[in-house]
Amino acid sequence: MQILVTGGAGYIGSHMVVSLLEGGHQVAVLDNYANSSADILKQVEEITGKKCPAYEADVTDAGQLDALMAEIRPDSVFHFAGRKSVAESVERPDFYHQQNVVGTQNLLSAMAKCGCNQIIFSSSATVYGAPEKLPLTETHRVSPFNPYGVSKLAAENAITRWTDAAPERRAVLLRYFNPVGAHISGKIGENPKGRPNNLFPFIVQVAAGLRAELEIYGDDYETPDGTGVRDYIHITDLVEGHIAALAYAQNHKGSEIFNLGTGKGYSVCDVVHAFEAATGIKVPYQIKDRRAGDIATCYADAAKAESQLGWVAKLGLEQMCRDGWRWQENQSGDAQK
Ligand code: UFG
Repeated sequence: MQILVTGGAGYIGSHMVVSLLEGGHQVAVLDNYANSSADILKQVEEITGKKCPAYEADVTDAGQLDALMAEIRPDSVFHFAGRKSVAESVERPDFYHQQNVVGTQNLLSAMAKCGCNQIIFSSSATVYGAPEKLPLTETHRVSPFNPYGVSKLAAENAITRWTDAAPERRAVLLRYFNPVGAHISGKIGENPKGRPNNLFPFIVQVAAGLRAELEIYGDDYETPDGTGVRDYIHITDLVEGHIAALAYAQNHKGSEIFNLGTGKGYSVCDVVHAFEAATGIKVPYQIKDRRAGDIATCYADAAKAESQLGWVAKLGLEQMCRDGWRWQENQSGDAQK
């Protein structure tokens, strides 16, 4: 199948490209490299032994997108291109709307023009907002409380309207919980520009000596040890969920939503201890105030993906830590060369 991966040089996109190339698909990458680098695609080539064309382009440029889509003529699109920092979205809500919502609308319109009827979308559990009931099922009410979440929900809605408008269109909307870890090869992983917003890359950078200590945002939540509980999912499992979604989309018209999570919650302290046990490296930390906008606990009900996609997350926290650390060690090694 001819597949376009938007955001294909990013953290999740690059792992997806590896998996699609290994599955024998023809892949084209579109990326503006705002939060990634073209070098990642060399690593993808090293892992797979296969090259794929990459186009430097921005989904907010409708004219450029139309021209590229007419050239690539994909059978299916994986749409990862977008911005994902909650804090940045609070400062720049219009920018997030432009990138995440208008970008998605442009893509859908370009797909319609070139006769592409299938999209797999990178959404987020952030659309649920504060959980009313755990675990979170796909039917839980949606009520995002930051502009990032609002933009993800608006993009989901744009996709649903797009499939509603023509009977042959197919979409799978995947709501991720907390993707972490790296490819088993250690050649690709998460490389946030600047100070990481998320827990896992921060821990990895503390372990590598790039940051002095982890700041734990609050130990007074109503959780077993007082720190926030999340559903961490290995990037490899997440990508396999997309492969299952691709097979599902082939046979199902309209839009369908699936959570991609493990169904298990771990606290910040659990993750720190698992990382220390998996790597033998101490992660110093300090307890700080709660971070604005954080919730105590969030984890998935992953039963729908299991029953309808035949997918279930297999890899545990220890593997997430080992693989994430292997990647960071390779980065540090490269930096010293
Ligand atoms: N945390 C720390 N210190 C840090 C970073 C995070 O203690 O330096 C804590 C947070 O308070 C939270 C947990 O670690 O309890 C996880 O935080 P992350 O920032 O890694 O992840 P979030 O669950 O806050 O956010 C993730 C995605 C968002 C998405 C959200 C909801 O990164 O894009 O899930 O789905 F919006």
